[in-house]
Formats: sequence, structure tokens, C-alpha cells
Amino acid sequence: MSPRRPRGRRPRSIRERVRALRPPFRTRRLELRWPEAALNEQVVALMKDRAVHRWTLRIPEPYSRSDAAEFVRRARLNRRAASNLAFQIVRRTDGRLVGGLGLHRLDNPAGTAEVGYLLAREFRGQGYATEAVGGLVRLAFGPLGFHRLIAHVFVGNRPSERVLERSGFRREGRLREAVRKDGRWIDVILYARVRSDPAPARGRSSGGAARSPARAK
Ligand SMILES: CC(C)(COP(=O)(O)OP(=O)(O)OC[C@H]1O[C@@H](n2cnc3c(N)ncnc32)[C@H](O)[C@@H]1OP(=O)(O)O)[C@@H](O)C(=O)NCCC(=O)NCCS
Repeated sequence: MSPRRPRGRRPRSIRERVRALRPPFRTRRLELRWPEAALNEQVVALMKDRAVHRWTLRIPEPYSRSDAAEFVRRARLNRRAASNLAFQIVRRTDGRLVGGLGLHRLDNPAGTAEVGYLLAREFRGQGYATEAVGGLVRLAFGPLGFHRLIAHVFVGNRPSERVLERSGFRREGRLREAVRKDGRWIDVILYARVRSDPAPARGRSSGGAARSPARAK
């Protein structure tokens, strides 16, 4: 168990802030949870989708049960080291795995962290990614205290760019030949949102704050 903090003191280091987190975090329709082995089968099914591999860099292909188990193990270690946070996105009504979401490079001293996400194919087109990213942004600017969030999108991935635009991120530029993928260099679009940027208009945007159940209505 982590030691108790004196009441009212805001945790200072990123390690302390991560340790103080109490998931699940809730949005209107979803929960963000630490990855758990109980969902490994659903994770493996999700990772069969070719689009996931086309638009991401580090996910093994083909993806096996042992990859899923390793992911849960590494997520725990990275969380303890406060270097990366991985979440599973679960639908509140039925507990089904909707996708995954991450906040990376937490130990960057510049106060910037990087957002990444993916959805299972059958859950696309319903605003779940935008809703989950909205929850993560509130967590990152709120209890985690970040100042700037960035995301990298491979050129051509318009659905992902739309998620970021609906989530209040702005396009900052095109990084030329920034990633080598399947034997080719490809350009990457850089998106960012800083703390003072206006929140996106309600409606087809974040879908509500990330709240711990204790604070949820
Ligand atoms: C990128 C990815 C997560 C986007 O998924 P998505 O379903 O398009 O995103 P959302 O869940 O936010 O849904 C948005 C879509 O649902 C529609 N929608 C329906 N109800 C909605 C609601 N309540 N709120 C917002 N959008 C809603 C929107 O109109 C939008 O469709 P449009 O962009 O064609 O207009 C998904 O394509 C994916 O997992 N791709 C593979 C992995 C990947 O590319 N990851 C990102 C790497 S940078």
C-alpha cells in the first residue's frame, strides 16, 4: 500500500501524482481502467484488425495471448516507474472492451505527455475514442498536472486526426519522414493541446469528464 499523504497537499512529482490516481475513471458511457489480464482474450481479438497495425508502430503482429499478458505486465511496471500510463477502455453498460488508450513519456521534464488510442473495429463511428480522449485530457491537465499534450498521427489517418480535432487539439505541423514503417519512411502529423486552449464545443466532443467512481454521480 502507498503511504498516506498529509491532507490537502498536492503531490509534486509525477510519481506521486501517478500513485495518487484511483481508477476507474468514468466518462458518460465508458470507464478507463488499468489493463487487466481478464480482458486478454478480447485484446487479442481486437488486435486482429489490420488497421490497428497500419496506423501504429509498436504493436506486435500477429498478436498472441502472450503479447497480451506481456502488455498487462509492462503496463504495471511502467505505471510504477511513472513513465507511461496504459488504460483499457470499457463500456459501462456491459463491461465489453472498447479499445485502449495511453499517456506516454510522463517523465519528460518539459511537462509534455503524449496521447495514443485505438478502438476495436465494432466500436468505431460512435464517438467512443473522442469521449475516452476527453477523459484522458481531463486527467492529464487535472490530477497529473501536465501543461501540454501531443499526439503523432501517420499521414493519411483522417479518422484519428478528427478524434484530436474534436478533442481540442490543434495541428502544429508535418514531420517529414519521421517514422519508418513496413520498409518506407512516412510523414507524421503533430497535434497538440495546451492547458489554456479552449475546451472543445460540447456535443460531439469529449462526452464528459473523467471522474473516479467516488466522485461520479
Ligand atoms: C482512430 C480511431 C480510434 C478513430 O475511431 P472513430 O470511431 O472514428 O472515433 P470516435 O470513436 O471518436 O467516433 C467518431 C465518429 O463517430 C461519429 N459519432 C457518432 N456519435 C458520436 C458522438 N456521440 N460523439 C462523437 N462522434 C460521434 C462521428 O461523426 C465520427 O465519425 P466521422 O469522423 O466520420 O464524422 C479508429 O479509427 C482506430 O482505432 N483506428 C486504428 C488505430 C489508430 O489509428 N489509432 C490512432 C493512431 S494515431
